[in-house]
Amino acid sequence: MRKRLGIALPAIIAVVVLGASFLAAWAFLGEAGRSVEPSSVRRLIGLSQANLSEPWRIAMTEEIRREAAAHSDMRVIVTDAVDSYGRQVADVEHLLAYGIDLLIISPTDSAALTPIVAQAYRSLPVIVLDRAVEGYAYTLYIGPDNRLIGRETGRYVSELLGARGGTVLEVAGREGSPPTIDRSAGLREEISKYPGIRIVDAVTADWLRDRAEDILVDKFAVSRAPDAIVAQNDAMAFGAWLAARRSGLGPIDIIGVDGLGGTNGGLDLVDKGILSATFICPTGGKEAVDYAIDILDKKDGIPKKIYLRTRKVTAGTIASATPPPDAADVTAPPDDADAPAPPDAADATAPPDDADAPAAPDAAEGRGAPARAVTRPIRLGFAQVGSESRWRIANTRSVVEAARKAGIELHFVDGKQKQENQIEAIRSFIGMGVDVIAFSPIVEKGWEGVLAEAKAAGIPVFLSDREVDLQDDSLWLTFVGSDFMEEGRRAARWLIGYMKDRKNADGQVRIVELRGTEGSAPALDRNRGFEATIAGHDGFSIVRSETANFYLDQGRDRMREILASETGRIDVLFAHNDDMALGAIEAIEDAGLVPGKDIVIVSVDAIREAFVAMIAGKLNCTVECTPLLGPQLMKVVQDYMAGKDLPTRIVTSEEVFPAEIAKKAISERKY
Ligand code: AHR
Repeated sequence: MRKRLGIALPAIIAVVVLGASFLAAWAFLGEAGRSVEPSSVRRLIGLSQANLSEPWRIAMTEEIRREAAAHSDMRVIVTDAVDSYGRQVADVEHLLAYGIDLLIISPTDSAALTPIVAQAYRSLPVIVLDRAVEGYAYTLYIGPDNRLIGRETGRYVSELLGARGGTVLEVAGREGSPPTIDRSAGLREEISKYPGIRIVDAVTADWLRDRAEDILVDKFAVSRAPDAIVAQNDAMAFGAWLAARRSGLGPIDIIGVDGLGGTNGGLDLVDKGILSATFICPTGGKEAVDYAIDILDKKDGIPKKIYLRTRKVTAGTIASATPPPDAADVTAPPDDADAPAPPDAADATAPPDDADAPAAPDAAEGRGAPARAVTRPIRLGFAQVGSESRWRIANTRSVVEAARKAGIELHFVDGKQKQENQIEAIRSFIGMGVDVIAFSPIVEKGWEGVLAEAKAAGIPVFLSDREVDLQDDSLWLTFVGSDFMEEGRRAARWLIGYMKDRKNADGQVRIVELRGTEGSAPALDRNRGFEATIAGHDGFSIVRSETANFYLDQGRDRMREILASETGRIDVLFAHNDDMALGAIEAIEDAGLVPGKDIVIVSVDAIREAFVAMIAGKLNCTVECTPLLGPQLMKVVQDYMAGKDLPTRIVTSEEVFPAEIAKKAISERKY
């Protein structure tokens, strides 16, 4: 525990009360008003909440409090910013001054809270929940995958309206807020696939039930009722239903998001037949407490971002949707006494028949899934890309080692750089009846067939390192790996800074790019991230871009060809991995040039050999992409078998290493 301010407990509480809300003191004192013996508290968590008026945020706060209560040495101080970012900045300052060990913050406003979060992160670990801040100055972000939520709502609308199609009205949250933007974009992306379905109108109701009701009563007075309403939370979905009832409209399919327990929470509304479906939007409270413990215990392999899974709940699946304990006490909107009786059976929208849903795992499966624990070791089939780079070799080692440590029976196949080999390997895993399949897809596209076979066989698929580009997200469960786009951006940002005072007289920075495997996620995204970042900067341009498949020798050969054929000056090499950069260094030296001086070189991976090259002055910067994914992969496999809730994406934590820090950092490299 960090050293607290040298003031007595009552004084501390007073500070918190003055600076924030009454709830802060209440939470610190505990449920029964018992005072806490400060010496027994080893982990003091400050929770800075954006507001405590939205039921979803109340549920998040309760979840954190409940999870923390299971640890006798942990306490949580909660502050309520009442939706004011100025107040939230002051709340964080008070929490820091008090001496918390870790800050959990759910920001009111991403941009406005970024500086204080960065300031907090300089002195302690920070978990950002729900709304992200800008940049990466925090320990861990946990939040819902709002775009996916939007897509799921759209997919469900398409199932409801079917081939006859129809019209959709969207009820959005707060204008400009990230969940509003992302859920809308996801909905539109999905609906655009169905020519018979049209989004005819969209209103903004600030997440509030009454506002949605008022706006829609006015709307229904002058325009035709839609066939379906997609509301971005359950409160507004309920408001839409109330408006439809007041306007005397017939049944409309209404879909909400949140899936909270309690009277008139989303689950209750589905149960009453008011909503056709709700999509559970996990608050991340449990995950935040679990990771807070791991962070404070200084565990290795803490990810940078975790995107939580949504799950559809309809009348057909409501029985298995278990709200967290106590949710009923905290999630009921304040003035629900006048909640209407459920419509009678004839009026209620018929829920789609979910009874015949396939038994195979579905990406939407999550909280409350049955444990699949087996008495024998878990059997995992892993289809690797190949052994094209030292990164890949380290990745294979990490997977094999982590499986061994976890007692998982690993069936490992080397795809030898061919998609067909990986497909064959996955088929063989299905034939063997493994419990779980994981693979690192060599390219993004072309996996539908084999993954549908895995789904039909009831075997879940995890993506390790690389993502796929598929129409159907339900064909895989969880991705564990890097943010390749960000790696491209980081390489470009470093370069822009480095070249500031080093440009030639003509102001031009002529860049050669060596790309990874054509069609692979890292090659596509590193290129996109890099190009998008240099686009806004005068003089920077990619003059040649060649594929070298992540191989050292191909990097050397391509660079040789480029140096021999390129008529103009080459200022910079951006290589999508270190191996290609190391190969290119040989070619540059063979051409009588000085790598790192005549040609500035930035690459990705941060393997040990890159540090050796940086120390020798031949490479200028490497952007980390960690291959050490084995432990996190085994964790999700074990969690899946235990029936635990799984995130959709777990993004690893990575850094940028410029040559100046290579000497110091090399001793800590693990690959
Ligand atoms: O998918 C990750 C990439 O694959 C690494 O950056 C590269 O070295 C590897 O071969």
